[in-house]
Amino acid sequence: MLLAIIGSQWGDEGKGKVTDIYAENSDIVVRFQGGNNAGHTIVVGDKIYKFHLMPSGAVHKKFLVLGNGVVVDPKVLIEEIEKLKKDGFNPDISISDRANIIMPYHKILDSIEEKMKGALAAGTTGKGIGPCYSDKISRFGIRFSDLLDLEVFRDKLNLIVPIKQKIFDAFGEDVNLNTESIFNEYLPYRAYLKDYIKDTSVFLNNAYDQGKNILMEGAQGTHLDIDHGIYPFTTSSNTNAGGICTGSGISPKKIDRIVGITKAYTSRVGEGPFPTELLDKEGEYLREKGKEFGTTTGRPRRCGWLDLVLVKYSCLLNNFSGLTITKIDVLTGMKKLKICYAYDYKGKIIHDFPSNMKILSECKPLYAEFEGWEDFDWKKIKDAKSLPIQIQAYTRYIEEQTKTPICMISYGPKRDETLVIKDFFRGV
Ligand code: IMP
Repeated sequence: MLLAIIGSQWGDEGKGKVTDIYAENSDIVVRFQGGNNAGHTIVVGDKIYKFHLMPSGAVHKKFLVLGNGVVVDPKVLIEEIEKLKKDGFNPDISISDRANIIMPYHKILDSIEEKMKGALAAGTTGKGIGPCYSDKISRFGIRFSDLLDLEVFRDKLNLIVPIKQKIFDAFGEDVNLNTESIFNEYLPYRAYLKDYIKDTSVFLNNAYDQGKNILMEGAQGTHLDIDHGIYPFTTSSNTNAGGICTGSGISPKKIDRIVGITKAYTSRVGEGPFPTELLDKEGEYLREKGKEFGTTTGRPRRCGWLDLVLVKYSCLLNNFSGLTITKIDVLTGMKKLKICYAYDYKGKIIHDFPSNMKILSECKPLYAEFEGWEDFDWKKIKDAKSLPIQIQAYTRYIEEQTKTPICMISYGPKRDETLVIKDFFRGV
């Protein structure tokens, strides 16, 4: 069986924890897009693990795969493997021979391009993600299969590095690339990683055909998708369910379930319009209580009310089998809560997320209001029916509006702070 986890908002929905929960019953955990721009946090007992590249199944000692759609910074990957080894894990990981490698000039280009873009800058994580994907699409990319063949690797560097140098020179940037030192820098990465590199599409398809449970771990969120997100303030990969197939070599016919992860409110790092953003004390409350600071960059996240125009559009694109609502505990103690169900654009009611950023920036959220709830003992809650009626009203509205059943509610970062309503792997 193949189950996928996809963020339904702008990333940071709590996918790491949910992946960790599903990973328990899976055999293989796969990243299929993005790179170390992601930051997935897992709490096991008192220990906190933060992964950027490593699939979140690592602490369950599952088989891990970085698919062809991932852009890999080998230095970061090696650091994460080493860190896990120090913690007593020996990650069993395969890296696709078709995955593109983040090179030093990608990271430099990332910051230069952001500077040049002015108002169009997305506020990237600065990890070289966009430039690496650009090179992949324009076929200047270096893949792991190239790194394995030193002659090919050197030839590619000899061709590509002078072109990048010309770009830096043209923009008057004080950057001096040296082909030989890049080659030498990547040799130890090659030596370390070479046994992990394989054709992961063959591996995954065989595993699926043998009845293994495969978990696809999406990074970022649907509205950061390069095609369907708030372009140009998006990331550079397909973060929606479509990315599963292109990023792993698995047919759409083999995707059995897709779980959408929805935070009980909305947050965003980086630039771009954000209709339900709260620039007041309530926004500050959500940020502080929800610890809304980027796992990768440490930047404070912008926070606001739950925006169902975003989530409904995600449901449309991904056809989720169920939704997991995360961080509902963060709303505890707020007197009144709001959920945005549509936008008002110059007197016209909009239900579908607009593609035009100018229109989006002029959209006013239309809200349904809900009573808040006071603190209570979550541990006494055994099923959704025993939740406080205010939470039931809040979650029922999400289900009605999205026409998607809620399969899990997460009320804290720890594994046991989770109410499982339907476990797709176990068929509960
Ligand atoms: P990039 O992916 O580093 O190129 O950044 C592009 C945009 O996506 C920026 O607005 C980032 O803040 C955002 N972004 C990238 N990765 C994540 C993530 O894992 N969570 C939330 N936002 C992200």
